[in-house]
Amino acid sequence: MNEQYLLDLDLRRIPALAPDVIVIGSGITAISAALAAAENASVLLVTKSNLQESNTYYAQGGVAAALAPGDSPESHLRDTLVAGAGLCDETAVRKLVTEGPTRVRELIAWGTPFDREDKEHLSFTLEGGHGHRRILHANGDATGQAIESSLAKKIFEHPNISVLENHFAVDLLHKDRVCYGMLALDVKGGRFLKIEAKATVLATGGIGQVYRESTNPEVTTGDGMAVAFRAGATMQDMEFVQFHPTVLYLAGAKRFLVSEAVRGEGAHLLNSKGERFMKNYDERGELAPRDIVARSIYAEMLRTGATNVFLSVAHLDPNLVLERFPTIHKTLKQYGLDLTKDKIPVRPACHYMMGGVCTDLLAQTDVERLFAAGEVASCGIHGANRLASNSLLDGLVFGHEAGVQARGLAEHSQPTFPEKRVKPMRDKETIPLDVDDVRASLKSLVSRSAGIVRDAETMTNALQMLDFWQKYVYAEEFQTVKGLELQNMLACAQLVIRGALKREESRGAHQRSDFPQPNDANWKKHVTFNRRDFEG
Ligand code: SIN
Repeated sequence: MNEQYLLDLDLRRIPALAPDVIVIGSGITAISAALAAAENASVLLVTKSNLQESNTYYAQGGVAAALAPGDSPESHLRDTLVAGAGLCDETAVRKLVTEGPTRVRELIAWGTPFDREDKEHLSFTLEGGHGHRRILHANGDATGQAIESSLAKKIFEHPNISVLENHFAVDLLHKDRVCYGMLALDVKGGRFLKIEAKATVLATGGIGQVYRESTNPEVTTGDGMAVAFRAGATMQDMEFVQFHPTVLYLAGAKRFLVSEAVRGEGAHLLNSKGERFMKNYDERGELAPRDIVARSIYAEMLRTGATNVFLSVAHLDPNLVLERFPTIHKTLKQYGLDLTKDKIPVRPACHYMMGGVCTDLLAQTDVERLFAAGEVASCGIHGANRLASNSLLDGLVFGHEAGVQARGLAEHSQPTFPEKRVKPMRDKETIPLDVDDVRASLKSLVSRSAGIVRDAETMTNALQMLDFWQKYVYAEEFQTVKGLELQNMLACAQLVIRGALKREESRGAHQRSDFPQPNDANWKKHVTFNRRDFEG
């Protein structure tokens, strides 16, 4: 785990670019960072796929912001701290909830069509853990798509921003914990690029694909976390992985998210006998924070021997259901299910990573000139469990902050990367390896060992297996995205399980059957790792 680079590359032989600021990613965080940085800097936005392929695009629920009459940032702060189970940084949360409304108003000014009650008034919905209706949504349940479209338009119109799609971040250019830019692989052309910059912003999202069942798109393979870790950055709270309670569970169907907002509008969760069960686990019923709902569903599935539970809105006005959830309705219809009438089979799936690259309130990592924001980062706003719909707000607020800080560095001169060549630490060889097979095995292993409920024995065995796979998966110098992603997924899986093994308590989204209670005396603190912990 102490590898610093994945590939042996002579930097004098590959083409070079030199913008002031690089932003890696394509979702709301990356775009917010790019727009903020571009005020007085040239910005290169680099994404391994295209601007559409991000968690943002698929977000249904919405953006939480204290904008509704009677609501306040103070109330949003309280709800966020409760969900975070004692591990939020209150100053960071305060920044999120107080700056959030300004950033959302900016989105509205840029043309994001949030749904309205009437011309004057925005429409707000409720989600688990919120004490107020404060979730903004657009086109019913197509919120992410609406935001991403208005932001992408701003990006393509901006004279200081260039977009490099289909370029994979192989590694950061780094030495002695200073970042000088990145190495990119042109996914279509197969060429490498050296991109030097005065500041680099990571906004690459999470690790969803490390799990077999995930709400995240295919691109979420933990690349940003892995490149930062190899560059020497400190990683924090990697054991805190959030499971979304209600993901469509039908043989052969995509693990499609059925938004928490459906429960916010009054949906019931039913067990295999058709009985409501949530109140047996928590008095808040279907609107308990999502870690509690996910664990309750898991417990109910075990109790009844079922593979899933059901979500039902049959008791609600079908017109309201169709107006609020057109995307969900359309998707379910493809599989012969009618959201307004049928019981929808659902179960929990991996959804969001609370941990990540450790940053301060200015999105600065402990690698100089490297910033991180959004899901790839851990700045203390989510603690042990993220409050629903706080992630788009996180991207807006801390993406913007990262961009502002990056443009500050752009006023200074460009530092030159001192190396002519980068190299893995040990000699590499080409070995016969079925990358897809290892990827599938890794996803199953992580799901079995670091899922909703964990224990030391299962995780120790899983870690031994991952460490063994590492020996030969890291022996190869892949020049394909699939191979490079596998190496990143392996690094993230090891960090998740190491963190989960270390934290001998249950808190927020991290539940240990062998340590079922929170232990404030020993564990009301963060778990951190960096590459240097594995040296020697
Ligand atoms: C959802 O729509 O349920 C997801 C919202 C979120 O993860 O914040």
